[in-house]
Amino acid sequence: MDILLFGGSFDPVHNGHENILRAALDYKHFDKIIIMPIGSPGHKPSCKAPFAARKHLVELAFGDIGVEMEVSDFEGNSREKSYSYITVDYLKNQYPDGKIYFIIGADSAINMHKWMKWEYLAQKVTFLVFDREEGENRQLLQSVETIRQYSPDTVIIKNKVFPVSSTQIRTLAADGGDITGLVDSKVQPVIEKYSLYSADFYRKNIGTARLLIPLMLRENRAKHTFNVAKLAVELAEMYGVDIQKAQLSALLHDIMKQQPEDIMLHRARQSDIIEKIDRKPMLVLHGFAAADFARREMGIEDREILMAIKSHTCGRRNMTDLEKIIYLADMLSEERNFPEKEPLLALARQNLDIAMEQALKDSINWLKEKGGAIDTDSYEALEYFTALNNGGKNNG
Ligand SMILES: [Fe+2]
Ligand SMILES: [Fe+2]
Repeated sequence: MDILLFGGSFDPVHNGHENILRAALDYKHFDKIIIMPIGSPGHKPSCKAPFAARKHLVELAFGDIGVEMEVSDFEGNSREKSYSYITVDYLKNQYPDGKIYFIIGADSAINMHKWMKWEYLAQKVTFLVFDREEGENRQLLQSVETIRQYSPDTVIIKNKVFPVSSTQIRTLAADGGDITGLVDSKVQPVIEKYSLYSADFYRKNIGTARLLIPLMLRENRAKHTFNVAKLAVELAEMYGVDIQKAQLSALLHDIMKQQPEDIMLHRARQSDIIEKIDRKPMLVLHGFAAADFARREMGIEDREILMAIKSHTCGRRNMTDLEKIIYLADMLSEERNFPEKEPLLALARQNLDIAMEQALKDSINWLKEKGGAIDTDSYEALEYFTALNNGGKNNG
């Protein structure tokens, strides 16, 4: 089985990538293409768009390439800086009979000696080295000679360069510039509709979150999320809280809810003190994980937003108005249905602190009845709001 591996940031995927892919398919037949977008394991995002969004765009761009194609999560889910030799080991495990052809550029081939364990990697793959059509590249020829000692079938493919880069597209899209002809016709409307590369913080992140919700959440949870955002905006307007912050926090609050448990736990542990996280019931961890996602994948550093996402499941002492709004909107969103809902919603529209006290009481009681674990933060929050409301400081 001949497998073509194409890795990169794909931030975003563009016609230059497609040009290379098609040239590789012209060179020979492959049974399968594996596209491997990089992840974001560091403290800051390594890409402008989150992995799930980049993956979606690649699927749109290459879905009709005519060969079985998979966009792999392997590097996207990686918790450490990924090295090609690790990725290739993983693929070799998945496809023991597969022969892996690895697309790289001329510069990568020339700098191959700087790659981690490059000789090991070269023994496991055949490189397809893409070089510009014109001229002879002596440095490249020399490097490829060296690489062939380990990977004898490595070839140089001379190809007409498609003059576009992801940076150029991001720069254009940052202020609504025209990217027609630079990206696939199915990719362009998504970048535009969801403002994926907008220079405006809220435009970009609210747009991106809207794209991610149906990609990362099943239908009911997605619907719930949009309803929470709707009510959060209403309450924010009512109480003079920043509407965009409320909208963005609400859109992201449950984004990790349906991710595999190990991924959720890993993100949660990165979002706060590990000992504190490890004491919390599993059910509340998705809020912490979502805050980590917002920070590491989307570059959101605003503490108020991150706290609102974190505390939506359990509450805490000293909640800000934004946090109270997200907590209440989550509990009282349109599709929810429980006996105490309408009076509680009315209360939320009158006074956030009194509504919080009641909401915490209700949810603690509900958890007690269900036999579920109750987080200490929730007890502390209830204590805090009860004292606050009894102390006469309850002017909402
Ligand atoms: Fe939640
Ligand atoms: Fe929720």
